[in-house]
Amino acid sequence: MGILHVINHPMITHKLTIMRKTETGSKDFRQLLDEISMLMGYELTRDIPLEEVEIDTPVAHMTAKMISGKKMAIVPILRAGLGMVDGLLSLVPVAKVGHIGLYRDPRTHLPVEYYCKLPADIEDRLVIVVDPMLATGGSASDAITMLKKRGVTNIRLMCLVGAPEGAKKIQEDHPDVDIYIAAMDDHLNEHAYIVPGLGDAGDRLFGTK
Ligand code: PRP
Ligand code: URA
Repeated sequence: MGILHVINHPMITHKLTIMRKTETGSKDFRQLLDEISMLMGYELTRDIPLEEVEIDTPVAHMTAKMISGKKMAIVPILRAGLGMVDGLLSLVPVAKVGHIGLYRDPRTHLPVEYYCKLPADIEDRLVIVVDPMLATGGSASDAITMLKKRGVTNIRLMCLVGAPEGAKKIQEDHPDVDIYIAAMDDHLNEHAYIVPGLGDAGDRLFGTK
């Protein structure tokens, strides 16, 4: 089963609390999501393998270490996932970015696909799927399935706030995928919104409501 990593860092928790507040506007919401994404990315990449390289400093020759192996791709689930891309790119500027468009049908709460554009060599990359909200888990699970159909074998899911229902679904549907979240909230309400959550992440990010 994939590991559920709840990243309990005071800087992240503090910023998330400001994001949750009803009175926090889009400008601050966007900036905080960007900052948290960078901090979470730091934890998510903690176990990435290094390889030895031979270099010359101005003083001496040395055997040093650099990140080895797989290249990375960031795949935001539209729309709200877009708010997590720049923070990760500030850590890994050479990562490619793919986009998966899914919206939740307000009646059934099931994801509907409307867009998919991925880097040509996506199957050779470590893919970080990003979306602030892991509610029922339907959107993230479908996005991961779309990536697997394209041959991707190395996937991590990074969300801001999770619900137990969503984490369970990912662990059942995709036991090979580790999940990284900043907080595990209590439950889903009758509209499948996370409680206490932060409301509609896409609307708050883009000021559409
Ligand atoms: C939200 C959120 C996730 C999804 C989570 O997107 O950004 O993609 O819901 O819910 P789930 O885990 O139950 O699938 P939404 O459908 O509101 O689209 P938006 O990002 O365009 O606002
Ligand atoms: N999507 C959101 O944006 N928020 C939730 O709480 C659930 C799904």
